[in-house]
Amino acid sequence: MIKVDLQYSGLEKNDLNETKVKDIHKMIINKTGKGNDFLGWLEWPKTFDKNEYEKMKKAASSLRDKIDVLVVVGIGGSYLGIRAADEMIRGINNFDKIKIVYAGHTMSSTYVAQLSKYLKNKKFGICVISKSGTTTEPGLAFRTLEQQLNEQVGIEKSKDLIVAITDKSKGALKTLADNKGYLTFVIPDNIGGRFSVLTPVGIFPLLVAGVNTDKIFTGAIKAMNNLVQDNLTNEAYKYAAARNALYNKGYKAEALVSYELQMQYINEWWKQLFGESEGKDGKGLYPTSMIFSTDLHSLGQWVQQGTRGVLFESVIKIVEPVNDMKITKDKDDLDGLNYLVGKTFHEINSTAIEGVIDAHVNSGKMPNIILEFEKMDEEMLGYLVYFFELAVAMSGYLLEVNPFDQPGVEIYKYNMFKLLGKPGVK
Ligand code: PA5
Repeated sequence: MIKVDLQYSGLEKNDLNETKVKDIHKMIINKTGKGNDFLGWLEWPKTFDKNEYEKMKKAASSLRDKIDVLVVVGIGGSYLGIRAADEMIRGINNFDKIKIVYAGHTMSSTYVAQLSKYLKNKKFGICVISKSGTTTEPGLAFRTLEQQLNEQVGIEKSKDLIVAITDKSKGALKTLADNKGYLTFVIPDNIGGRFSVLTPVGIFPLLVAGVNTDKIFTGAIKAMNNLVQDNLTNEAYKYAAARNALYNKGYKAEALVSYELQMQYINEWWKQLFGESEGKDGKGLYPTSMIFSTDLHSLGQWVQQGTRGVLFESVIKIVEPVNDMKITKDKDDLDGLNYLVGKTFHEINSTAIEGVIDAHVNSGKMPNIILEFEKMDEEMLGYLVYFFELAVAMSGYLLEVNPFDQPGVEIYKYNMFKLLGKPGVK
């Protein structure tokens, strides 16, 4: 469950446009709004193909047995959700059998060369993901890593170590995978990249990593069942309406704040989800993020005393930690910390949240929306993905933009193709 608490937001009930929320709810449910061809994620947790899911589980388990490292090749919606889910669920420094590394999200020659060196003599497999099947960055990374795998294990063995996730029929990746005999899984036509975490895009790599994806779907279905009201008792709509109200009051940026380091890529995924969905037609909050305590010792100064009226914070509070540790007694107490003996790290972290909210809201005059997350596990991941997807649909429609396209991303691609001399691009 996610609860939205607006007591520190500075908003009054009538700042939130409930009438518009109700109208937009109808538009979402009846699929009559802009970009309605891309609302497949709305029912997906209940309607996805269970036979395909079983096939994925088998293929993932067989790949898992053969490798130690999985290279996930993809960018944007074909990258961020996987990393967000994996780091939130398995943690950053895990000792699990499979390590996931990423490629295709950068064209840094140094990164690619160092990754290639790291993979030398490692038992690795590749999961290449691209909905369009034509994106340059993952295309180039895949070409390079596929060649390396062929050299390391031979073309025949490579076939069992490469899985492609792409469109059912279109795009270069589909043609390539079919020609070379790689296993493929489909990204549905009606689900856009940044809404695709719960499709094979996220689910297949997470299965290879050994994550319990059934629980992810349990969480997503809980969210589907909970977030059905057409009004502000729907917590996802309450969040959307609050951020929209702050935007209308002049705030132009929102920082998603988490006190859990392993939520860093949830922040990154959220930034893409909201940034690509809303930043168009000269509108949209600028989504940024911070991890506290880390950023309290850098951006915290700006948040407390820098330019006012621009930024507000949306603060994630985790109620139940996955693990906790007690502070133990030191006989000399040279660091002077014995006064904390008996408390746990989570209790202290929670106290920090209270102290920071008080400092930022009361003395810093920085509006805060509080997002209370029950815990940080597979179920929560499914829940939060659905929660934010529904929230961004509402929020984008409140702004009167199409939340499901990203025409701006095409402009750099066109320029790059022109400069590189891609055939057919003038
Ligand atoms: O949300 C989106 O649609 C984008 O961010 C895409 O996911 C990103 O551009 C990658 O595209 P593709 O999966 O086609 O390679």
